[in-house]
Amino acid sequence: MNLVNDIKAIIRAGVSAPSGDNLQPWRFVVVDNVIEVHALTLGDEIKFGGYYALFITQGALIENLVIAADHYGYDSVVSLFPDKQNRLHVASINLRFDPIDRGVDLFRFFDKRLTDRHGYSPERLSSDIKKALQEAGEEMVEGSRLVFVEDKQDIFTIAKCVVGQIEVLFSHKTLHELFFKSLRWSGADAHGTADGLDVRTLHLNIFKKFFFHYMLRSWVFVKILSKLYIHKVAALMESVRYKEAGAYCALIKSGEQINDEEAVAAGRAMERFWLMATRLGLRVQPTFAVFLIKHSFDFDLFDYSEAQKELIDMKSKTMESICGVGEGETLLWLTRIGYPKYKEQYQTYRKNPEVVFK
Ligand SMILES: Cc1cc2nc3c(=O)[nH]c(=O)nc-3n(C[C@H](O)[C@H](O)[C@H](O)COP(=O)(O)O)c2cc1C
Repeated sequence: MNLVNDIKAIIRAGVSAPSGDNLQPWRFVVVDNVIEVHALTLGDEIKFGGYYALFITQGALIENLVIAADHYGYDSVVSLFPDKQNRLHVASINLRFDPIDRGVDLFRFFDKRLTDRHGYSPERLSSDIKKALQEAGEEMVEGSRLVFVEDKQDIFTIAKCVVGQIEVLFSHKTLHELFFKSLRWSGADAHGTADGLDVRTLHLNIFKKFFFHYMLRSWVFVKILSKLYIHKVAALMESVRYKEAGAYCALIKSGEQINDEEAVAAGRAMERFWLMATRLGLRVQPTFAVFLIKHSFDFDLFDYSEAQKELIDMKSKTMESICGVGEGETLLWLTRIGYPKYKEQYQTYRKNPEVVFK
């Protein structure tokens, strides 16, 4: 055992976690056997999804760190938000060498987990598979339940709602700018920056690629094309692929507010669920951007028109109703899930994380 080398390996493995647009908003401080996880707000990006999206991402990262620590023989105790004056110091993870079998076998799926944006096979999930996913997803958030939406018509309706994100993206200047800023136009670009959204993972056909690169990239063009309802057409076209799912899965909790600790726990639950799904041969795509946009309404700086707010409100209410979110409950996240229809996939890159040893 070499604590410093082990901690380096744990962090290196941990950062394979998903993050919004693969922006990897984290840095680490290590003091003896404690890994401090600090969130980065990355300027404007925080406005999309607010602290909620940021803390979901931190949760996924923390879950990976705990699983990786276990793999290297450490038991970990996670203290959330240990510094009440600093909201961005998300966690301190205290490691203790204790190489016993804790029954966590998800580490080997870190490099197989990915966001699959292809259409999926319509094959239904068996009750055993659903039970395993429920156990993985519900464990982290007290009083939460994982719901499967499997009815074909319900899946179609959800598909039409999740693309509300695309409709807003192509009608909101700042969102449009942020999205295209995070996009990497080739594998070489993505490899070069080792962050951002690799365009290849969007699986665009030649026509869409051309349109995306030469037209939709320019806000001026999008503005002109908006007269032809390009934002609605783009959303409608994309909804076809969102209809191709084995199910949609929602994690729902009791209570109407989500505090920072619960947001982190929701992220831990999402990562555990995602790794379990990967282990079971399933593919996953987070599809709750509409809800994240709703969270960002809190930021005054991020001007949404009344029409955009109404659209997001209507889409999120419809999805909540289909997922069975009851009175006094809140939806934490929603994903599309299913067996892969296409083999071709691209693994995304990660930057070397900033780690300071004190
Ligand atoms: C909070 C959060 C929200 C996300 N929202 C979306 C989304 O709306 N659509 C999507 O396709 N991927 C979404 N993702 C997936 C990320 O884009 C993806 O994890 C990242 O690009 C890294 O790629 P990987 O998951 O293949 O490793 C989200 C991830 C997180 C953590």
